[in-house]
Amino acid sequence: MEIIVQPTPEDASLIAARHVARLVREKPDAVLGLATGATPLTLYRELVRMHREEELDFSGVTTFNLDEYVGLAPDHPASYHTFMREHFFAHVNIDPGRIHIPDGLTSDVPAFCRAYEDAIKAAGGIDLQVLGIGTDGHIGFNEPSSSLASRTRIKTLTPRTRRDNVAAFGTQEQVPIHVITMGVGTIMDAREVLLLAFGIKKSAAIAAAVEGPVTSMSPASILQMHPVARCIVDVTAASRLARTGYYRWVYQQKPDWQKL
Ligand code: PGA
Repeated sequence: MEIIVQPTPEDASLIAARHVARLVREKPDAVLGLATGATPLTLYRELVRMHREEELDFSGVTTFNLDEYVGLAPDHPASYHTFMREHFFAHVNIDPGRIHIPDGLTSDVPAFCRAYEDAIKAAGGIDLQVLGIGTDGHIGFNEPSSSLASRTRIKTLTPRTRRDNVAAFGTQEQVPIHVITMGVGTIMDAREVLLLAFGIKKSAAIAAAVEGPVTSMSPASILQMHPVARCIVDVTAASRLARTGYYRWVYQQKPDWQKL
């Protein structure tokens, strides 16, 4: 895994945005795996700016979002459909027919999940998966003890994750208990992954994921087995890593052609 430590979340997000933009310019029909939550907000803001000011073209891009709450309609204010519309899709020229987000209202969850996996395959697989990380080490909504080979399915959120996500809902009781999420195996099939994490509250999860053992107790740790995984963090999220000096040194030595 490549670990890129940046002074601020803004710096880290701009690097991530440049990287996504480069892929979209090189491969106009790229398939992007997208994440929700506070972490990718600046990344989306910057991609929108690039669309407006630098002609970054999303018309051929296909997207698959990681997850959605079970029971929330697409127009629910806290749904991830709403999040993606408000923060990204409404502001770029993406074809609505190429947007995929799990359906929180599906009446047949297993059939929906199989179809979601099939749609990813039919699109040619995910070129680049953007990820955040939960304070408990989840990626997507794959909570600790998730099978590291799992596919898209229903999952039960931990009380901690429901607490972490309370802001969009008001009270913890209103946070849905169930979600549909891409599996860890689904995420690992992406040709490239970009994990973003900012803030001190992510520092323990990042240390476990990057420097700890590969274990389902830290689902993000499986990214150590991914051939093209990058972890872009700000200094506070990096603060519990033992080898930050080494990661910085490696990043500084990169040949120009390899710089993000
Ligand atoms: P956050 O969530 O970006 O809102 O911190 C990340 C996650 O739960 O994966």
